[in-house]
Amino acid sequence: MASAGLAERTVLAIETSCDDTCAAVVSGARIRSNVISSQAKAHERYGGVVPEVASRHHVQLINPVVRAALEQAGTGWDDIDAVAVTRGPGLIGALLVGVSSAKALAGARRLPMIGVDHLHGHVAANFLEPEPLDPPFLCLIASGGHTLLAGVREHGSFEVLGQTLDDAAGEALDKGARLLGLGYPGGPAIQRAAEQGDPEAFRFPVAMSRDGSLDFSFSGLKTALLYATRELSDEELEARRADLAASYQAAVVGQLVAKLERALKTGEWPAVALGGGVAANALLRERVGALCAERGLPLKLVPLELCTDNAAMIAAAAQASEPTPYPGYLDWDAWV
Ligand code: KG4
Ligand code: ZN
Repeated sequence: MASAGLAERTVLAIETSCDDTCAAVVSGARIRSNVISSQAKAHERYGGVVPEVASRHHVQLINPVVRAALEQAGTGWDDIDAVAVTRGPGLIGALLVGVSSAKALAGARRLPMIGVDHLHGHVAANFLEPEPLDPPFLCLIASGGHTLLAGVREHGSFEVLGQTLDDAAGEALDKGARLLGLGYPGGPAIQRAAEQGDPEAFRFPVAMSRDGSLDFSFSGLKTALLYATRELSDEELEARRADLAASYQAAVVGQLVAKLERALKTGEWPAVALGGGVAANALLRERVGALCAERGLPLKLVPLELCTDNAAMIAAAAQASEPTPYPGYLDWDAWV
C-alpha cells in the first residue's frame, strides 16, 4: 500500500543524471526492481566524472538496464502505467540520453510520462517501502552535486531551508580524496581510509556563521586540507594519510550534523531523514542517529543503495506528481 498522497501506479523509471545508468519498476511504494549500472570504473582513472564519457556509457547501457529492470520485476510493458525520468539537474548530455530513451519508450506505447527533479528523487527515497516515511519531516540531502536541508511538508514538494554556498559535501570528499591520492569515488575511499585514522589528529575548520544561517560551506575546508598536505613530505603524507582522512571526514560530517541540529531547534520537525550519496556514510549515520536519539526524534535511514543515485527514488517522486499524457511530453524542450 502506498501512503496517502502517493499514487498506486506501476512506474518504470529511468535515471541518468550523472555516472550511474539506472532503471526501476515501482508499484505504489513497493520496489519491484532497482537496477544500477555504475560507471565508476570508467571514470576512476580521471579522478572524477567525465561528462562525455558518461553520456557515451549511458547510450550503451540504457537499453540493457531497462530490459533488466522489467525482467527482474517480472513485468511486461502491459503492466506499466507510466514512464518517469530525471529531467535535471545533472550533466546535460547524460540527462538527454535518459530523457530521449524515456520519450521513445513511452511514446511508442502511448504511455503518460512524468519528468522528475533529481533532488526531489533523493527526498522521495524515504517514501519507499519498507517503512515509508510520510511528511512532515526534515531531510538532509548531501550528494556529489548538492547539499541542502529540505523541509518536507507534503509528498510533492519541499522547501529549501539551507544549501551549500560553494562545494557540495560529496564534492568536498571527492576532491579531498583526490588530494590524498585515495581514488574515486572519494566518499567511500575516505571512509575506508578513516577507519585506521585518528579524527582528532588534525584540526580542520567547521564553517558556522553566527547569524544562525542554515547554509553550508566546504571550500575553506578543502583549502585547509591542501595546506596540511603541502606541509608534509611524501613519506609523512603516506604515514599520516589515515589521520588526514579521518580528520577531514569528521569536519565534513561535523558541519552537516551541526546545521541539521540548528534546523531542529525550531521544534517544527517531528522526524528526520537523510538522502544523497553522502547519506551512505557510516559516521554521518551514526552521528545523526545520536542527535535524533538525544532529541527523541525518529530517524529514517534508507538502505545504502537508495542513498546513492538510483531510479527507484525517481519512481517514488513520480508517484507524487501529475503525469503528462501522450503526446504532450514530446514537446518538452527544457531539460535542466
Ligand atoms: O547521490 P549521488 O550518488 O550522486 C549525486 O547526485 O551526486 O552521490 C555521490 C556522492 C559522491 O560524492 C560520493 O563520494 C559520495 O556521494 N558517497 C559517499 C559515500 N558513498 C558515496 N560519501 C561518504 N561516504 C560514503 N560511504
Ligand atoms: Zn544524486
